[in-house]
Amino acid sequence: MDIWHIRGGRRLEGVSFVQGSKNASLPILAASILAPLQCELHNVPQLRDVDAALRILRHLGCRAEQRGNEVYIDSTGLSGCSIPHHLMEEMRSSVIFMGALIARCGEARLSLPGGCQLGKRPIDLHVFALRQLGAEIEENGMEIQCFPSRLHGAEIFLPFPSVGATENTMLSACMAKGETVIHGAAREPEILALQDFLQTIGVHISGAGSDTIQIERGPMKKNVVSRIIPDRIVASTIACAAAATGGDVELRGIDPKQFSTVLHFLNKAGCDIMNNNRSVRVRSDGRLRAIGEVVTEPYPGFPTDAQPVLMAALLKAEGRSLIRETIFENRFRQVPELRRLGADISSSGQLAEIWGVDRLHGAAMTATDLRGGAAMIVAGLSADGETVICDDGHITRGYEHFDMRLRSLGADIYLEY
Ligand code: EPU
Repeated sequence: MDIWHIRGGRRLEGVSFVQGSKNASLPILAASILAPLQCELHNVPQLRDVDAALRILRHLGCRAEQRGNEVYIDSTGLSGCSIPHHLMEEMRSSVIFMGALIARCGEARLSLPGGCQLGKRPIDLHVFALRQLGAEIEENGMEIQCFPSRLHGAEIFLPFPSVGATENTMLSACMAKGETVIHGAAREPEILALQDFLQTIGVHISGAGSDTIQIERGPMKKNVVSRIIPDRIVASTIACAAAATGGDVELRGIDPKQFSTVLHFLNKAGCDIMNNNRSVRVRSDGRLRAIGEVVTEPYPGFPTDAQPVLMAALLKAEGRSLIRETIFENRFRQVPELRRLGADISSSGQLAEIWGVDRLHGAAMTATDLRGGAAMIVAGLSADGETVICDDGHITRGYEHFDMRLRSLGADIYLEY
């Protein structure tokens, strides 16, 4: 059990370099098995989810190790195409290995993935798209089996821009015969990052960032070096913590366009936002105001992953703010915990209502999921007195050395393992 101890009420001040992106790293780690490849990845965050992906790679017969923020993979010796339950259950994105395994081996066998409990999270769109590429897939509620099949290019229309389904389809299509076009693709920066990696290893792929992606097999490289993009959700979290504590923080190494909707709402709440191409400064005088309504949407809309941390920043914002969650059915699990700090917040269905209060007081909370846990940290930093967060390892799935990072900005926080 991780226990986060926070003594709140300190302004966050200073410069922070944003860690590498979890959600960009995971599909790229899966992509490293598409062909026999020696791959060196830089700026990979040290996280539980990355660790879980490396364990899957080793289980499949690859060499995979992380030294600091560098990861070395040699997938030439890949010898298996099945992933057992104990490895699949650690995170949702283990499902991305399905597309990569079908591409490399023509078959795959996996149990259903784990991950944060944010709602049902089916994988029907993944299966729908892979079947159109010729994969023969059977699912029995416990396990997914992809029987030996020859993949062929196809024109695929995704009815919803699912990030994971887009990534799985991109990966499978890399080794299919002929061209694939994905219509209705997700447009997140992590999709663009995956495209960049796939281009580096030799795949002919274009269009990522728009809703149409074209993919065709190319001559595959044997050695590549690549760098993971910065994490826009970690950047959003620190920005929200700066706003909530009346702080002044400069986030370096990240393109503010990738989280511009979050910055827009912080600005609306009264923060000064100063940015250039590679950094952004968030300055707040601690007197925030309500922001009306925020609605989560697929990129380029407001990201669901930043919803809980923005909620935490608004707990003391004068007036009434509304948050409408449209991506996941169960992403307000932090709400009852935040109430323990004295927050005036309620939720019903997909809508949460926040009335800003003058003060929050420290309390004990239990982290419910990764971003909900991060929201508790943001709220604890702006509460008077001591906050303790008991966390079954959710937060370290996505935030690297987060206690140290926040301490370097002046926070009084430490993590007891
Ligand atoms: N969905 C379906 N069927 C599918 C796939 C998705 O109904 O086959 C639904 C989901 O149930 C959900 C919605 O579509 O309601 C969005 O799911 P999506 O597939 O887009 O999300 P994901 O690939 O499972 C990734 C991130 C999430 C992030 C979402 C949305 C990774 C590893 N995970 O998940 O990140 O919230 O996209 O942006 O990239 C996090 O980092 O905390 C996190 C949960």
